[in-house]
Amino acid sequence: MSKSEINAIAPVPGNYQLSDYEQTKAFFTWNDAAKELRYQKTGKLNAAYETIDRHVEEGYGDKIALHYVNGDERVSYTFHELKLKTDHYARILKENGVKKGDRVFVFLPKNPECYLSILAIIKIGAIAGPLFEAFMADAVKDRINDCSGTVLITNRDLVQRVPQEEIPSLHTILLSEDIEALPVKQEPNDALVEWVGEEDGLIIHYTSGSTGKPKGVLHAHRAVFHHYQSGKWVLDVNDEDVYWCTSHPGWVTGSVYGLFAPWLNRATIVIQGGRFKAEDWYKLIEELKITVWYSAPTAFRMLMSNGDAHKKYNLSSLRHVLSVGEPLNPEVITWALRNLNLRIHDTWWMTETGGHLIVNLPSEPIKPGSMGRPFPGIAVGILDEEGNELPPGQIGQLAVRTPWPGLMKEIWGNQDKYKEYFKYDGWYISGDLARMDEDGYVFFQGRSDDMINSSGERIGPFEVESKLIEHPAVAEAGVIGKPDSLRGEVVKAFITLRKGYAGTESLLEEIRQFVRKHLSAHAAPREIEVVEELPKTKISGKILRRKLKEREVEKAGSLYV
Ligand code: PRX
Repeated sequence: MSKSEINAIAPVPGNYQLSDYEQTKAFFTWNDAAKELRYQKTGKLNAAYETIDRHVEEGYGDKIALHYVNGDERVSYTFHELKLKTDHYARILKENGVKKGDRVFVFLPKNPECYLSILAIIKIGAIAGPLFEAFMADAVKDRINDCSGTVLITNRDLVQRVPQEEIPSLHTILLSEDIEALPVKQEPNDALVEWVGEEDGLIIHYTSGSTGKPKGVLHAHRAVFHHYQSGKWVLDVNDEDVYWCTSHPGWVTGSVYGLFAPWLNRATIVIQGGRFKAEDWYKLIEELKITVWYSAPTAFRMLMSNGDAHKKYNLSSLRHVLSVGEPLNPEVITWALRNLNLRIHDTWWMTETGGHLIVNLPSEPIKPGSMGRPFPGIAVGILDEEGNELPPGQIGQLAVRTPWPGLMKEIWGNQDKYKEYFKYDGWYISGDLARMDEDGYVFFQGRSDDMINSSGERIGPFEVESKLIEHPAVAEAGVIGKPDSLRGEVVKAFITLRKGYAGTESLLEEIRQFVRKHLSAHAAPREIEVVEELPKTKISGKILRRKLKEREVEKAGSLYV
């Protein structure tokens, strides 16, 4: 018996929707996933219909679909109300010229209008482009320009960060405060839903890599099979659950597991606006009797640092907790066991993969430190540099056998980038390094490139470096993820200064604010170090981020402290 097996945490006995992993894995094929969706009967589908309208048609119109909480504000909607609202939004979009396949962006805070907008866009066959609410002008502009977005739904506050004159394709901006009251020409319901094929575009998420600007990861409607099945088996939600995913729909977790997966399974979702505050989170669980909760290691670590705050609240409604986005350290799992009396179920996937690939299921043992085992229908390999599978225990490239329904359809306008993920025949290469044990449990070992992961958010060093050197004082910049005990990594910039500038505290703060103001708060370096010279490759003179990172990792003592 290996050491990790000794430490495995047994499942809590219960009536889970997937009760036996080995058995399910042996018989499940992705063709089974669409069985309960309308698609099975017609061969055509629409993700927004499957998510909302279907439940109304099947007699669940009066069921609460969402609770929204922001400070003292409380709003709830039934599936029927959501259908009417998304219909209204969809008509407004149509009347503004939106057609099947158009890219329509949503730049809103985590509020019901954000979710409604995404679904309305999808309902009429257009492609939704949700943007994270913290983005500033350049981040908004780059993304909409990249795929020539035509319409944007935003609000009075965020519209100030939209430089419309620099986005030539964007012909219409709709403000969420106005949409509700806008008049529409009446249209019969059946003309509204655009029935599409599996390969038609659904949603585009921009994500960062180690090089270049963020890339547009396009998903097709077929992804709903993956969303539905993983919602059922991994989130284990059904229509009795009150489910809370803490991610914003601008990130893939917030769209796939904040919106599609729970609603495809008819759960009631919770949307919480506002900033993180431990007491507010516990209060929300108690007040809404949340049963299933999906969050990220940084959030759990923030809760941990609040000591006994949870003791003041009744959290007994919680039955299933999940985590994603960054390594879930065993200390966090132990904390949850001791303090919440619950296991935290880690899950691994990526924007590009469109759904869970490696998971810890509620019915199966958890090995702390492991991300879990492959979802049924998914085969994972650990590959060497030539693309050969390595035996258990060895560290290599984490790869997944293609295809599966959630796998991205393309990188918008960049076929070369897309091909880079598939350099070995029949495999998707994640860019992560991992090892697998003899039981099939996968252990994360780091990234094979320079991508930064801070609080579970992917940050591309190139984007930050490009912004830094736009500041008049900065000559060159190298940006890395520095190990951090709370956030996993924090963005650290090494810069050289132009002649005539001194690296004073106030200048460094000004540079930091410059990135915050133009790009986004989460990508702004928390630390800036002025150096005489940056390490570079001898031949091409490229900045060696790896060297910068090595120094920081040595100082911290480990890659993930
Ligand atoms: O490095 C892995 C890390 O996050 C990357 C994917 O980031 P993103 O596309 O933003 O998607 C985040 C949520 C789906 C991966 O390549 N990552 C994701 N989940 C885990 C993780 N690292 C360790 N453990 C995880 N469970």
